[in-house]
Amino acid sequence: MKKILVTGASGFVGSRFVQAMQSRYSLLTPGHREFDITSAEAVNSYMDANRPDAILHLAAISNTGYCEEHPEESHLVNVIGVENLATAARRHEAKFIFFSSDQVYNGNSETGLLDEALPVSPENHYGRHKLLAEQRATEIYEATVALRATWMYDAAREGMPTHKNFIINIKEAIENATTLRFATREYRGITHIDEVISNLPHTLTLKGGVYNFGAENTLNTYETALAYLDILQYRGKEIISPDTARFPEHIRNISISMKKAREASGGAIQFSTTIEGLKRFEGR
Ligand SMILES: NC(=O)c1ccc[n+]([C@@H]2O[C@H](COP(=O)([O-])OP(=O)(O)OC[C@H]3O[C@@H](n4cnc5c(N)ncnc54)[C@H](OP(=O)(O)O)[C@@H]3O)[C@@H](O)[C@H]2O)c1
Repeated sequence: MKKILVTGASGFVGSRFVQAMQSRYSLLTPGHREFDITSAEAVNSYMDANRPDAILHLAAISNTGYCEEHPEESHLVNVIGVENLATAARRHEAKFIFFSSDQVYNGNSETGLLDEALPVSPENHYGRHKLLAEQRATEIYEATVALRATWMYDAAREGMPTHKNFIINIKEAIENATTLRFATREYRGITHIDEVISNLPHTLTLKGGVYNFGAENTLNTYETALAYLDILQYRGKEIISPDTARFPEHIRNISISMKKAREASGGAIQFSTTIEGLKRFEGR
């Protein structure tokens, strides 16, 4: 059984990965207190004592707004933390997989689905730090696999954290009869967490590099929200209104193409589009 160290195992992705994969792998899931990724010493001594075959690095500061307000802390966790793990992974020749983000594309002005070869220059600290982490980790250890994940969603699950996400926000608005505004000038993939988790085992055999990892979506976020109301067969369209003013400088297109990961995995990595995924999630 492969031994995998999962950092951030108490988080949104980590808790669901552990629940889904605990019978398939031998999982090491140290908490933040005993395993602070910002301490090279803590990382090295844990790695020396436990010698995992692979590291799935999910620990991060994942809140973009918080990173914007606390750039030093974001740099420490989201860049230095990744460097510490990449260095330890190289020393142990362990596969190193970590979650970057589609936010690395948020300064791009191309339209359509974006691929990994495009030059990027993100416009916020979170995106810049994720990009820097990709660069540093692949320099330190060429077997590093960096996954540019999209915004993910799930329903609330007992004992697991669930951030506000696309489906929860819309369902709450329906329940409370409030309105929500969605940007017409934003394009992004939105992915059900179960698809992310079921695809993760295939990343263990990817060769080192940067890969987009999530649902493709060609609709803007407003159109995606309207399509979700259709899937829910909810008729009160007025709960969603178009926000045409957000992202005035350039269209915020962070929609990813999955071609590279699909081909590199021989077709094993497969995601539904955002709309197909929402339909499947709602059993339609
Ligand atoms: N959620 C999304 O939609 C999304 C989208 C794109 C990319 N991502 C990326 O995917 C990864 C997983 O995200 P997530 O949503 O699961 O994040 P999350 O729910 O915020 O969980 C973050 C985890 O990191 C741990 N952590 C934070 N600082 C740490 C430190 N210094 N040392 C050790 N552990 C630390 C937290 O533990 P404590 O709570 O105990 O501090 C928690 O378990 C992150 O890299 C995130 O940036 C997420």
